[in-house]
Amino acid sequence: MEKQEIRTFGRRHGKKLSARKERLIETVLPKIAPNADEKNSILEIGFGAGEHMRDLAIVNSDKIIVGAEPFVNGVAALLSAICDENETITPEYKNLRIWPDDVRLLFDKAKFQFDTIWVLHPDPWPKARHEKRRLLNAKFLTLLGQNLAPDGRIIIGTDHWEYYDWILEQVKRTKLKVCNSTHDTIKTRYQQKNMAHTTEVKYIILGVE
Ligand SMILES: C[S@@+](CC[C@H](N)C(=O)[O-])C[C@H]1O[C@@H](n2cnc3c(N)ncnc32)[C@H](O)[C@@H]1O
Repeated sequence: MEKQEIRTFGRRHGKKLSARKERLIETVLPKIAPNADEKNSILEIGFGAGEHMRDLAIVNSDKIIVGAEPFVNGVAALLSAICDENETITPEYKNLRIWPDDVRLLFDKAKFQFDTIWVLHPDPWPKARHEKRRLLNAKFLTLLGQNLAPDGRIIIGTDHWEYYDWILEQVKRTKLKVCNSTHDTIKTRYQQKNMAHTTEVKYIILGVE
């Protein structure tokens, strides 16, 4: 990630964390860092509180699920949900890995070959003067393509239709192609809140040409 790369996320910290969550960040988080040597893996970018990550972990128990999220309270919420009262990760979530930062820094560290990359409800930055903060620009989409397995798929879901159209325009400036395929998903926290006041979530599924 180039030093001058613009920030694509809002807050990094929310309300003060509970003592349990603080401990989980200190003790559990360092043990589940992503490692590019672990093959058969799925990435979720901007997992929020991690509802969809947990679903992915259970449905894909034979795969590694990597999540990137710079919002500390989101990371803490996911850790709290996957750990028992002894502050140990429960067996069904042993395949989860967390990168608690900007995903572009993860790609600086190593080259990955993800089977699937999920981006659900990326921040739409609706004001024209904030457009440069949109994560899914042509440069970033190209980077995703470089970290995808040969038959891999990028799945993007948004209820912000203007951002949806904008992403499709960006795709034209990459070597990615739009694929006609289906997928399953669950309602994430963002979608449940229906913050953009529309109901239909539109999906874009991309593969490498
Ligand atoms: C609108 S929220 C959606 C959260 C979740 N996917 C959902 O649907 O509930 C967008 C999330 O993307 C994260 N995000 C933004 N830029 C990011 C980046 N460069 N790397 C990783 N996550 C990012 C934000 O911190 C935020 O949690």
